[in-house]
This record gives sequence, structure tokens and C-alpha cells, in this order.
Amino acid sequence: MDGALLPRPAPADDPMVPRTFRIERRAAEVDGCFTLTLKATDGRPFAFQPGQFNMLYVFGVGEVAISVSGDCRDLNTLTHTIREVGTVTRAMAKLRVGDVIGVRGPFGRPWPIAEAYGNDILFVTGTVGLAPLRPLIYEVLNRREHFGKVVICYGSRGTHDILYEKQLHQWRGRFDLQVHVTVHSAPSGYRGRVGSVANLVKIARFDPDHTTAYVCRSETMTRPAVQALHDRGITSDRIYVTLERNMKCGVGFCGHCQMGPSFMCKDGPVYRYDTIEDIFTVREL
Ligand SMILES: Cc1cc2nc3c(=O)[nH]c(=O)nc-3n(C[C@H](O)[C@H](O)[C@H](O)COP(=O)(O)OP(=O)(O)OC[C@H]3O[C@@H](n4cnc5c(N)ncnc54)[C@H](O)[C@@H]3O)c2cc1C
Ligand code: FES
Repeated sequence: MDGALLPRPAPADDPMVPRTFRIERRAAEVDGCFTLTLKATDGRPFAFQPGQFNMLYVFGVGEVAISVSGDCRDLNTLTHTIREVGTVTRAMAKLRVGDVIGVRGPFGRPWPIAEAYGNDILFVTGTVGLAPLRPLIYEVLNRREHFGKVVICYGSRGTHDILYEKQLHQWRGRFDLQVHVTVHSAPSGYRGRVGSVANLVKIARFDPDHTTAYVCRSETMTRPAVQALHDRGITSDRIYVTLERNMKCGVGFCGHCQMGPSFMCKDGPVYRYDTIEDIFTVREL
């Protein structure tokens, strides 16, 4: 059969072809961190699930993987919170309202939600790790009646880098949510908690036999967090974590993100902990 006669996907549906999005709003967050609110230039909706990421393209500079940090029920707004670390994210930090960027995605496996119905929910996160977890927090709150206790344990380096601080305060004001915040170091006179997120896990109130935990931290910080969860009796099959590797294609073609038999762009970035426990320490295979 003549291949030319076969139907081809429209360019916008090709996962390797970016759609263009205009920056509607740019908000400075904590040091070196900013949030972009984007609208599709073609007006078409954008659907994603909590935990998924996009490849954001600064034209002429390059493309990076960034998790969606907004509400998945809002199909017309795409939100990303980005920390400046290198070439592309620094170029992104210079963009202004009205500028256009490329977006490919959404990619990756989302945080599972329905599996946790009936359980208490524990979020363990820190610094910019709250961004990929925020869509899941929104969704758990949207489906609040399906869960028991809901607890957020959040840690940052200092009082100056508490991401979404206003929102954490708002959540803390709810009667159906426990929000614990700690900082690693604080100026004298600080009246909040000082110490590690693992200490927050020790004091949080939940039923360890019926709790699902979602951990979003850097890999080095994930380990003590998971240990704290184990110490409280939460087994690895009820703990979900994210891993990060450099990504290029985002769709399982290039092998850039391969970790053992797993391609993190399509098998991750969210993993149930017991499925990766053995290879958790391997970097850039
Ligand atoms: C699935 C996934 C989701 C992600 N979500 C987010 C997000 O929501 N917000 C966000 O700010 N970032 C996120 N990242 C990280 C982001 O992709 C990197 O920070 C980005 O690729 C760096 O590109 P760059 O060109 O700016 O820096 P580069 O020039 O590539 O690197 C500059 C320096 O930053 C270091 N670096 C590179 N990647 C990372 C990283 N992942 N973490 C820490 N240091 C790094 C490099 O080692 C180097 O020292 C995510 C990554 C993955 C894989
Ligand atoms: S980024 Fe290319 S295979 Fe995962």
C-alpha cells in the first residue's frame, strides 16, 4: 500500500511538534523561581493529569521538561513553576507577558488517585517540589469526600523560600486538612517549626495501615522522607515518588531518560516506590 495515502496526524497532534502558547501572566515566586500562566495561541483546550510534565521550548535556545503546576480542571490555562538553573530556564526567566513559547505534552504517568480512595493521604514535599504535587493536591481537595485525613508536610531551606506560601496558609485554614511546614534554618525569633520534613512525618496524624503517601522531593531528599514513612509503618506499595532524569524526546524514542529497563518519560516520572526500590540510587544509566 502507498504510505502516502495513509492518514497522517495533524502536525499539532504529533508529540514531537510543539504547540505555541502565549504568556498571559508571569509571577515571581521564591528566589530564582517564577510561575508562567500560558494560553494556547490556537485557542484549543489542553488536558493533563496531575503529575504529568511538558517539554517547554524557548525558541532558539532549547527545550526542558517542566511539570504542570496548575489545576487539571482548567483546560484553558496552563501553569508551570520553574526554577532558574541553567541555559534554558534562565532564558525562560527573561520572557515577558505576550511572548510565545513551544509546548509539547503532556507526557509521563500521573500520580494515581483512585487507588487511594478510602485512605488517608499524606503529601511529603519541599521547596520547588510542591509545584508538581500541587495539581494532585487540588484534585484530592476536589474529591475530598473519597479520603480520610489529608496531610501536607512541606519543608524549605529557610523562611525566604517557602513556595506558594500564601496558598499553604489558606490550606492551613481549612478544617479538613493538616498542613505542617518546617524550615531547615531560621532567624532567631522565628516562631514556626525548624528541622527536617522527616520530623513532620513523625508528628503528622494519620492511620499508617490505611495511608497513601505521595513524595515529591529531590532524589537525595526522597530517601530520608521514605525512611520516615517506613518508620511510621507505611509500606513501599503505598508510597509514590517522582524521579528526574534529563529528557529529550519525552516519548520513549531517544533513550536519554532510560533507567534500567524503564524509560522515565513514559514509565515515570511517578513510580510506586516498591517498583523502583532496588534501582533508586542509579543515576544516568
Ligand atoms: C519530569 C521532570 C519534571 C520537571 N519539572 C520541573 C518543574 O516543575 N520545575 C522546574 O523548575 N524544573 C523541573 N524539572 C527540572 C528541569 O527540567 C531542569 O531544571 C532543566 O532541564 C534545566 O535545564 P537548563 O537548560 O536550564 O539547565 P542546564 O544548562 O541543562 O543545567 C544547568 C545546571 O542545572 C543542573 N540541573 C539540570 N537539570 C536539573 C534538575 N532536574 N534538577 C536540578 N538541577 C538540574 C545541571 O546539572 C547543571 O548543573 C523537571 C525535570 C523532569 C525530568
Ligand atoms: S526522553 Fe527520550 S526516551 Fe525518554
